[in-house]
Amino acid sequence: MAIALVTGASAGLGEEFAWQLATAGHDVVLVARSRDRLSEVAEVLTSATGSGAEILPADLTTEEGREAVAARLTADERPVSLLVNNAGFGIGASFLDSTWDQERALLDIHVTAPMRLAHAALPGMVARGHGAVLNVSSVAAHLGNSTYAAHKRWAVDFTQALAGQLAGTGVTATAVLPGLVRTRFHDSDALSHMRHEFPEPVWLDPERVVTSALAAVRRGQTVVTPSVGYALAGSVLRAVPQRVTRGRRSQQRD
Ligand SMILES: NC(=O)c1ccc[n+]([C@@H]2O[C@H](COP(=O)([O-])OP(=O)(O)OC[C@H]3O[C@@H](n4cnc5c(N)ncnc54)[C@H](OP(=O)(O)O)[C@@H]3O)[C@@H](O)[C@H]2O)c1
Repeated sequence: MAIALVTGASAGLGEEFAWQLATAGHDVVLVARSRDRLSEVAEVLTSATGSGAEILPADLTTEEGREAVAARLTADERPVSLLVNNAGFGIGASFLDSTWDQERALLDIHVTAPMRLAHAALPGMVARGHGAVLNVSSVAAHLGNSTYAAHKRWAVDFTQALAGQLAGTGVTATAVLPGLVRTRFHDSDALSHMRHEFPEPVWLDPERVVTSALAAVRRGQTVVTPSVGYALAGSVLRAVPQRVTRGRRSQQRD
């Protein structure tokens, strides 16, 4: 049975990744901070799909949390063949208004953790001659207007570098760039304003984003933007000078 490890699997896109992978016959390793919520997801998912689910509670903004997950990824027993680097959050403050603790946590969850976990997972995958890493980026990668956007741009560049280095190994790397998705992401006071600032039609369902991302992994595609509308928006944003998308300080929140 192929095993997939999903970070941020207690809610939103990560929970949907876990469901779709378990439904497709994968056993799953579920990572997030909340042990109770992970147990609930694992129990329901196991009884509905018959696939196995391990829970691995870890805070990926800490060295201890990252190393616990890295240890699972380097284990020879029940090796992981798909790593989904999905856990993430926004802080809703510009760099000039944020605290250092917020910026450090944001960097750790979006950059240090995916890099550490890929570094742990890839040697085993390459030795076995198969496997995949999926990094959850964002259309914000095209905006260049915040540290969040810079981290999501890094995820695309990192994935493309990995894809080049992995060519011919049987292991692939994919970055998915979702637009706005209906999840818990915008629940915080700092981000909830986005729910009414953007009209209903631009919000995607997690199911659609995850289906598109997993299809890209199966094809070995390096970069995918779910939904035609966001793919078009991405092409336009790439063509627009960054001084336009960078915006003013009041817009630099995510
Ligand atoms: N929703 C959107 O509009 C959107 C758009 C583009 C990209 N994305 C990206 O999609 C990914 C998933 O976001 P989502 O929308 O599904 O958000 P979500 O519903 O808030 O889920 C976030 C997940 O990450 C976990 N997480 C948060 N902090 C963590 C930490 N320190 N250590 C370990 N796990 C942690 C959360 O679990 P715990 O709280 O239990 O730890 C939860 O399972 C993120 O990388 C986000 O940047 C989202």
